[in-house]
Amino acid sequence: MAIMSWGKQNRLHQIIKSDGHTVMLAIDHGYFMGPTHGMEIPARAIRPLLPYIDSLMLSPGILTTSVPATLGGVGWVLRASGGNTVLDPDIDNESLILTAAEAIRLNASAIAVSIYIGAEHQHQTLLNLSTAINDAAQYNLPVLGVTAVGKKMKEKVEKRYLALASRIAAEFGADIVKTYYCDGFEEVVAKTPVPIVVAGGPKLATYRDVLELTYRSIQAGAIGVDMGRNIWQSDYPAAILQGVRAIVHEKASVDQALELVEGLQNDSTRREELYVATAEDVAISSVH
Ligand code: R5P
Repeated sequence: MAIMSWGKQNRLHQIIKSDGHTVMLAIDHGYFMGPTHGMEIPARAIRPLLPYIDSLMLSPGILTTSVPATLGGVGWVLRASGGNTVLDPDIDNESLILTAAEAIRLNASAIAVSIYIGAEHQHQTLLNLSTAINDAAQYNLPVLGVTAVGKKMKEKVEKRYLALASRIAAEFGADIVKTYYCDGFEEVVAKTPVPIVVAGGPKLATYRDVLELTYRSIQAGAIGVDMGRNIWQSDYPAAILQGVRAIVHEKASVDQALELVEGLQNDSTRREELYVATAEDVAISSVH
């Protein structure tokens, strides 16, 4: 196994805690979806959640406008690929949008680059990952490889596809891979020689569904979650987040976590409904 530099170890520790697990809050959706429902005003949406996360995954513009520079105890992973919007036929036509040098100036713990395996721009997105990894290596900056599916490959969330995409991200040199959960996920984990975090995907019907997704991911060997919509689009974001955290860091069962979540639901933990979601808002926020 390669010996990791002090700088990279320290940055990874800002994301992955001493128990080897991590709760990442993904709020980067606006980089192609704009003011996504539940994240219309990021500074307000994330404030009650910050005490329960290990790191944030977000775009550079939301970091500098919506996260206090005095924030301590939380790492941040900056989105480094992008370049299209939800209005495009698909969302895989990405380039790099952030250099490692700028990420370091923003004190990032890592950068995140998406690959779209099987999509029209697969090759280009793989080169994005490779370029970012080579760039980041100059600064001992970790890279999170994101196996994105976009619109076309959305139905491909099964173990053969996810193992292919995750393994390729690891082969290119990603330090952590973010992918989706699927049946037989143990195999995806076993075939990917770097730590895996699981994305939440579009909002699920119940809290039990979110907790089960988390529990099964951890049982299958994921080191944690990098979850967004299932936290901040829920009615009680801080409550469900604490339930997820209990599974990831405290080995809680689904029932124990659900009991915790239910006990935390009150007027003070209810999500501030700043804008009512239209059918179009809901459809847009489920495109990937
Ligand atoms: C795309 O918007 C991003 O890569 C998200 O960070 C990722 O999809 C995780 O967020 P969610 O749990 O909402 O799927």
